[in-house]
Amino acid sequence: MANLAWLNGKICEIDDAKVSVQDRGFLFGDGVYDVIKIYNGNPFRLRSHLERLQRSCNAISIELPDSIGEVELVIRKLIKESACADGFIYMQVTRGCAPRDHYFPTGIEPTFLIYILDLGFPSLKTNFKLIECITLPDERWMNCYIKSTNLLPNVLALQKAKEAGAGEAILCRPDGTVTEGTRANIFAVIDGTVRTHPESRLILTGVTRNVVLDILQKASIPVSEEAFSIDDLRKASEVWTTSTGHEISPVKKIDQHDIDTAVPGPVCSLLIEEFWKRVEAECG
Ligand code: PDD
Repeated sequence: MANLAWLNGKICEIDDAKVSVQDRGFLFGDGVYDVIKIYNGNPFRLRSHLERLQRSCNAISIELPDSIGEVELVIRKLIKESACADGFIYMQVTRGCAPRDHYFPTGIEPTFLIYILDLGFPSLKTNFKLIECITLPDERWMNCYIKSTNLLPNVLALQKAKEAGAGEAILCRPDGTVTEGTRANIFAVIDGTVRTHPESRLILTGVTRNVVLDILQKASIPVSEEAFSIDDLRKASEVWTTSTGHEISPVKKIDQHDIDTAVPGPVCSLLIEEFWKRVEAECG
């Protein structure tokens, strides 16, 4: 099982993929990325991730060097050549290499990297983890809808969570509004309605979030994409996170406060069940 990379059109072993120290991704974090999960040798929601990568590129005026259709072919080829059954696809596009200057350089090509990370074991419905969360101030920029490689506030917050024995940090704006986690969207059942922050500049529109919203709608479960506060969250009967990396993770504790009901609660349990049906239908 080789972890293969595709860098600007060439396939090689991941450790042989090299980028210049003048790359603007390295010098300025001037780039965007996306992450896709592979189940059973097939990428889940490939198009949605590629469309989001395209949107992120557009938002920072980088031209994606290949069409979405071409990228899709590259990804399928990489999965096949890596013989990867379960793992991740990481994609990153930076503005390219040039002597360090803040202005956008002219006449350079973007750096486009795609690589496969083989998990070596299948992700299973039964693998979900109950997580504990801490709440922290959301110190990120105002364009969180762009999946930027500038992840320092996310990295620092998740490290704080780890040091506090928690698995995720729930980020809150100065007015007390809950936005999302450091690497996941947040859902809560508050007074019988499922709530999650609306799509806006303050959150990343998660692909998993959209799958979950679709399941809720089809199951006629009351749902409202309406921001909620940290005080609302403390009253929630269920809380969970959604992400490509960890699918749906039920939250059992926030700061010192235990979630009252059995975790995962009824809505979260149904979502886990339905989510995996969709994975199975799409990836086998
Ligand atoms: N993170 N919010 C943030 C800030 C994220 O970084 C992510 C994903 C999500 C969930 O999005 P999705 O469901 O499309 O994975 C929400 C990826 C997995 C990462 O940074 O590794």
